[in-house]
Amino acid sequence: MDNTGSAWSQVDLIREAFHYQSRFEGSTMIFKIDYPVTEDPGFPYLMKDLALLAGTGFRVAIVPGAKEWIDSVLLEYGIVSSYSGNTRITAAAEIPFVEMAAFHVATRVMTGLAAGGSAKNSAGRVDAVIGNFVRARGLGVEGGIDMAQTGMVDRILTDSISRVLDLGMVPILPCIGWSPTGKPYNVSSDEIALAAAAALGAIKFFIVTLDRGIRAGTYALPENIELGENGRIIQLTPQDAENILEMNLRSGAGNKPLDELRLALRASKAGVERVHIIDAREEGAVLRELFSNLGAGTMIYADDYESIRNLRTRDIPDILRLMDPLMQQGILVRREPEDIQEKKDDYAVFEIDGSVHACGALHDWGENQGEIAAITTDPAYAGMGLGRRIVRSLIDRAKKQGLRRVFILTTHTQDWFELLGFKECPLDSLPKRKQENYDRERKSKAYALELGAQ
Ligand SMILES: CC(C)(COP(=O)(O)OP(=O)(O)OC[C@H]1O[C@@H](n2cnc3c(N)ncnc32)[C@H](O)[C@@H]1OP(=O)(O)O)[C@@H](O)C(=O)NCCC(=O)NCCS
Repeated sequence: MDNTGSAWSQVDLIREAFHYQSRFEGSTMIFKIDYPVTEDPGFPYLMKDLALLAGTGFRVAIVPGAKEWIDSVLLEYGIVSSYSGNTRITAAAEIPFVEMAAFHVATRVMTGLAAGGSAKNSAGRVDAVIGNFVRARGLGVEGGIDMAQTGMVDRILTDSISRVLDLGMVPILPCIGWSPTGKPYNVSSDEIALAAAAALGAIKFFIVTLDRGIRAGTYALPENIELGENGRIIQLTPQDAENILEMNLRSGAGNKPLDELRLALRASKAGVERVHIIDAREEGAVLRELFSNLGAGTMIYADDYESIRNLRTRDIPDILRLMDPLMQQGILVRREPEDIQEKKDDYAVFEIDGSVHACGALHDWGENQGEIAAITTDPAYAGMGLGRRIVRSLIDRAKKQGLRRVFILTTHTQDWFELLGFKECPLDSLPKRKQENYDRERKSKAYALELGAQ
């Protein structure tokens, strides 16, 4: 077998691609694509790749930004845009032009998806819908400035977007939102993209640019950063990204790569696991970034353990508030504040923006076995991977403590633990101390995960 040279690396690439395909299929990804990316010669190829992704089971939503195009349309009609900081002040008389410009850019995206990027071959096309998916409200008067018809995201209409995604279509969210009475507002596409990512539980957020991004040589970088060819930063933690922003403060606002990094950091802090900044001019950049280890752009990955930390005494009321309804339904075993306080060090919590939204515990019962217990996610944050990540961090903790096996006892949640790799096990395989403590009336089932096999 020829396992040298390019044939072999192609096979490796295909393997990697299959690996990532099965990992991300069915996941929601947000693409933030600003004018003038839509005018670049590489744009049809980008759209072709997005159509391919949508056609093969990825849930792709696109938020086109239209700032520069709106400015030039307004100018054509003799209106000079006025800004408060980075935010456009949209006078009522300007709104028809703003709508026209925003929908023009959205239509460019739609056209790209309809063509599948190729004039010769329509097989790559995908259905797309430009929609009124954003409920907005006015910014009002800010610091004495009337922001007129500039608005903010009130709510992302996730049900409507999900219906479109369920049909395999691509929702496109122009930078316009509507009040409940139908009044249109110009809303920042960055804010729409961030809100959509959070509301849809996106696992990926792509920022598509037309610049070379932050590279060694041009920007001051911390020492530990992993660099690829031409000084490209391959990946960053949110902390690295913050350090870079801090170190390059003097480059100031309006510096595009720094603005993009700032947006990426916000997306990461909003809970998106992986944020990617890619250059639209590089053919196949999205696919390479998605389906290969080294990617083609820069990835900001949220380190789970930055959000997961040990329980502090002052968190106890918060986790009891999360657990209380489940204890009342008998899904979780009843725990009093004193019980939790006594085993405080066993608990981990998932914190987002300073408040606790999920928790769990690892209790060591001897015989090298630990029990994962009290796994709870705030219902408002369900389905965003918090539960899975808490379990994963407790498994890592168990490994670090040298345990050979973790188990759970459950009455309702066996399917979920099976998804995480746990297998049903006999009660007599649990540590003796746990068997003595087993509540026979609850009749919980035991599931275990052998850590050696991980
Ligand atoms: C189980 C629980 C912790 C999951 O939390 P979460 O943060 O929403 O979990 P994740 O986001 O990691 O996973 C969500 C996925 O699991 C699925 N899921 C959630 N509960 C499930 C259950 N009881 N059985 C099977 N699947 C379940 C969701 O449908 C979702 O599927 P999807 O990704 O295909 O949409 C949460 O539902 C909960 O608090 N349940 C009540 C308490 C409990 O049962 N704890 C375990 C006893 S120790």
